[in-house]
Amino acid sequence: MIRKAVFPAAGFGTRFLPATKASPKEMLPLVDKPLIQHGVEEAKAAGIRDMIIVTGRGKNVIEDHFDVSFELEATLRKKGDGLLLALVQHVTDGADFFYVRQNLPLGLGHAVLRAMAMVGQEPFAVILSDDVIDAEVPVLKQMIAAYEKHSAGAVLAIQKVPREAVSRYGIIRGKRIADRVYRVEDMVEKPKPEAAPSDLAIIGRYILPPSIFPALLATKPGAGGEIQLTDAIRALIGTERVLGYEFEGVRYDAGTKLGFQMANVAFSLKDPDIGPGLLAFLRKEKSP
Ligand code: G1P
Repeated sequence: MIRKAVFPAAGFGTRFLPATKASPKEMLPLVDKPLIQHGVEEAKAAGIRDMIIVTGRGKNVIEDHFDVSFELEATLRKKGDGLLLALVQHVTDGADFFYVRQNLPLGLGHAVLRAMAMVGQEPFAVILSDDVIDAEVPVLKQMIAAYEKHSAGAVLAIQKVPREAVSRYGIIRGKRIADRVYRVEDMVEKPKPEAAPSDLAIIGRYILPPSIFPALLATKPGAGGEIQLTDAIRALIGTERVLGYEFEGVRYDAGTKLGFQMANVAFSLKDPDIGPGLLAFLRKEKSP
């Protein structure tokens, strides 16, 4: 059973400067919820209760967000605004939040390593909240089903990407063993297109065994001089059954300005309150 999810959230969000100068990129709103709340809700929907958020300087507002706001709740209760009260309570319901700091920007692998003591000796999930995925069945839930069905040691979300984009991702080489499922034989972080073993990219959802921690401790800086999660998972391939799972859903790279805006448009169009108005606006904008 997967009970814990780790959310790396210590990055500087440089692509969104100056918006992220004093507020974390994880708090940028996708329609009406911060990006990281979408990730937390996906984890909850997959049956996970413990949310371990790896933060850094200037990220305190994330802790405030996932905390009960007594004054706000009391005010809404007094006003009799049950709908808003439910929305606010939903943020903290059904989960426990734990925080650990990543005090040096040494990479994704290093961020996950910071959660070692809180995760302990059990398998866990990792969610990169700037990979936003619109899916009928939450992606982590799909992955847990594959993890159980195929007795996996690790499951990585994967997706085909255009060849010219492979250098932005971890890329796997694998053998297809079932519908949507690959046995991973090798993987490389941010390869040049000519050196990429395939066009199957790792997207920000992982199920990992606790043996990832000793592997991370032994991982030397890789691509970009950072401790790469991809390199540590690669070291597990001989001893753990590492699977790639081609998830069902549409993924937006909300870590870039364009992807973030596309995610906002797509999610807003689905929103019953603002979707019709936005659609009318977009149609008018497009017409000559
Ligand atoms: C990270 C991982 C990479 C993965 C990507 C998915 O890269 O290192 O393997 O493909 O997330 O979004 P980053 O986006 O942090 O550079």
